[in-house]
Amino acid sequence: MAKERLQKVMAEAGIASRRQSEKIIAAGRVEVNGQVVREQGVKVSSQDEIKVDGVPIEKEQLEYYLLDKPREVISSAHDEKGRRTVVDILKDGGVSQRVYPVGRLDYDTTGALLMTNDGALANKLMHPRFEVDKTYVAKLKGIITNEEMKKLRQGVMIDGRLTHEAHPRLEETDHEKKTCIVRITIHEGHYHQVKRMFAAVGHPVTKLHRERYAFLNLHGLMPGQFRKLRTAEVEALRKL
Ligand code: URA
Repeated sequence: MAKERLQKVMAEAGIASRRQSEKIIAAGRVEVNGQVVREQGVKVSSQDEIKVDGVPIEKEQLEYYLLDKPREVISSAHDEKGRRTVVDILKDGGVSQRVYPVGRLDYDTTGALLMTNDGALANKLMHPRFEVDKTYVAKLKGIITNEEMKKLRQGVMIDGRLTHEAHPRLEETDHEKKTCIVRITIHEGHYHQVKRMFAAVGHPVTKLHRERYAFLNLHGLMPGQFRKLRTAEVEALRKL
């Protein structure tokens, strides 16, 4: 069960700011499972009962969505250039909770994007050491060779760092247009990871789509559409 700091949970429940919640905790006004907690840094899960001045707090309902991100949409909550964001898509679709994307897809990348207000789960899934498999379909300039595929499998240098094991598969080649399509599964999630991996073997990406995030695929969704995750899917993400 994911745990979060008590003052953060209080802030999310609308009790007070995090700083102010720390003061409320220090004043002995908060109980967790019937015990007064005065020290800072205590972590709680959704299973814990939290009371402030004897009144149970109403925790923000945790929600989880899978979006098929369209092109030309920003994967963040705000954009200083006023471009449409993934958060706008969910809001316009009637989601009233403040849900945020778990990681990012580039402005021109399409596909599977998890969105939630469960900060603890999001942080866990986004941790670079955390190995969530993600499958991408990339259209490349030029025809990739076996040798280049092998390099991708074994690791290529990006920013002085060797990429982890990847699983690429050549799906299509167009000898006339000199392009090809490669499906690749990776578990890292560094900035522009896929584009930089292909660029490192000499094949710029001209189109990128994420068709799978962990076990979640986009079946039944069209670009710009989203769906709520089922309880079993949320549990499975927690157990990953
Ligand atoms: N890798 C990229 O280069 N871009 C994305 O949007 C996702 C992964």
